[in-house]
Amino acid sequence: MSLYEKEINRRRTFAIISHPDAGKTTLTEKFLLYGGAIAQAGQVKGKKNTRAATSDWMEIEKQRGISVTSSVMQFQYEGFCINILDTPGHQDFSEDTYRTLMAADSAVMVIDAAKGVEAQTRKLFKVCAMRDIPIFTFINKMDREARDSFELLEELEKELGIETYPVNWPIGCGKEFQGVYDRGSKKIIHFTSNGGAKAATATEVELGDPNLDGLIGERLHRQLTDEIELLDGAAAEFDLDRVRHGKLSPVFFGSALTNFGVEPFLEHFLRMTTPPLPRKAGDLVIDSMDDDFSGFVFKIQANMNKAHRDRIAFLRIVSGRFDADKEVYHVQGGKKIRLSRPQQLMAAEREIIEEAYAGDIIGVFDPGIFSIGDTLCAPGKKFRFDPIPTFAPEHFKRVRSLDTMKRKQFLKGMEQIAQEGAIQIFKTPYTGMEEVIVGVVGTLQFDVLEYRLKNEYNVELYMEGLPYEYLRWITTDDGEPVKEEDLILGTDVKLVEDYKGNQLLLFGSQWAVGWTQERNLNLTFHEFGGTQF
Ligand code: G4P
Repeated sequence: MSLYEKEINRRRTFAIISHPDAGKTTLTEKFLLYGGAIAQAGQVKGKKNTRAATSDWMEIEKQRGISVTSSVMQFQYEGFCINILDTPGHQDFSEDTYRTLMAADSAVMVIDAAKGVEAQTRKLFKVCAMRDIPIFTFINKMDREARDSFELLEELEKELGIETYPVNWPIGCGKEFQGVYDRGSKKIIHFTSNGGAKAATATEVELGDPNLDGLIGERLHRQLTDEIELLDGAAAEFDLDRVRHGKLSPVFFGSALTNFGVEPFLEHFLRMTTPPLPRKAGDLVIDSMDDDFSGFVFKIQANMNKAHRDRIAFLRIVSGRFDADKEVYHVQGGKKIRLSRPQQLMAAEREIIEEAYAGDIIGVFDPGIFSIGDTLCAPGKKFRFDPIPTFAPEHFKRVRSLDTMKRKQFLKGMEQIAQEGAIQIFKTPYTGMEEVIVGVVGTLQFDVLEYRLKNEYNVELYMEGLPYEYLRWITTDDGEPVKEEDLILGTDVKLVEDYKGNQLLLFGSQWAVGWTQERNLNLTFHEFGGTQF
């Protein structure tokens, strides 16, 4: 067993995923309150008016009052050391959001009880499901009018293709919300609202308590009895192994704003989810309990301080212990290095650290040597963690330099930013690089690109929107590149190449994806790039 078994075993590293406004920030904040990492609500960076104040990393963040990149928070709760990975929503949604999920060992999916599964939940879920990591569902805002609970579960199962297991069950909703029935203990946790944003009071009552009618009302009591019967008869059996392999999602109902159901959720979640998971490196599997240090870079944030052109690389520690005094081996660079200024984020604060363990996320100063997916390990080892997939962009623009004399700077800037992984660049076959097609996951990246090219490379861009929304990498059975004239393509489909020479198709609609696939059966479509081929 590992020298660091105790430290590693108590780590839990997860991402919270949701569609904007479902309550991710509110829930995160409540977690941090329980952990004592913040003293009062409203301190988490995501909140509107505090956003600009806590992060001045990039001018563009200040101008817009948003955080462009995702961050990490660590806190302690009942002996657990918890790392929460934030996944930005709204217009600052980007490839970084997806990559952050590669560093997590499980995901908490927040669903708005009035809305159910929404577009962004679907996308983020897909990326989690790709790795079969455990997914826990928190159905939020039960203090408001909600959709029927059975209907919500059915939608989760049908739309996301995962089985669900309700760990608790709501009693009423909105003004009538009485609390939840805990299926394990067979107790009712009764909710009394204190009004507004204050925490609600919760009291436990046995299901057989003779005063239950008086407490929750005769009608809701009867409804609950019927629903429990239905649930026990129809719902999937609880199976921890299936939970841990991402096949069965435990579901909880509650209200983050009034702090109802958050603590029971956290407790169940911490018990059901896993300590740091192993990661693959080709034929090897690197277990978190291996004594030797290893980790991979999953995100690079450039120019946090423009005067120094500094970059921070975010590292997920996969195994062993990171020690700030020891040298590590950077496999892709082929060099031993000492990681400078290792730091961790604690709510809104950053602090320099001396040590960290498997499961932890640290930020290290990057003098320009790291790329997304790079492996760091103990000197003497040489394995490489499997690459982080490339995610299909959804917005495309044709981009060139306004000043044709600045072609060199234009290319340098575009390639540099593409290498950092903020954008993807494509070109049409047989054309040069005077003009490139830029694809991004979130439209804010276009603004970031324009800003950075002007500020860092002195190049003004001309950009023109393109009507594509979907992308598939393509491969053929014989592995040979395809020729455009051999394909049957509609008018809203375009064949392009990425800068590594992989071929792909851009589509104007989801419908066109299906149409093209049906007519070009020699092609295999891939939704994620970089890992399958
Ligand atoms: P997000 O990070 O997923 O985008 O959501 P966030 O937590 O910011 O919540 C979005 C809105 O929903 C906020 O209201 C928040 O107060 C509210 N909310 C979150 N959880 C609950 C809940 O359990 N019940 C109810 N009724 N509301 C909830 P806002 O008015 O947009 O923002 P604010 O002025 O409260 O900051």
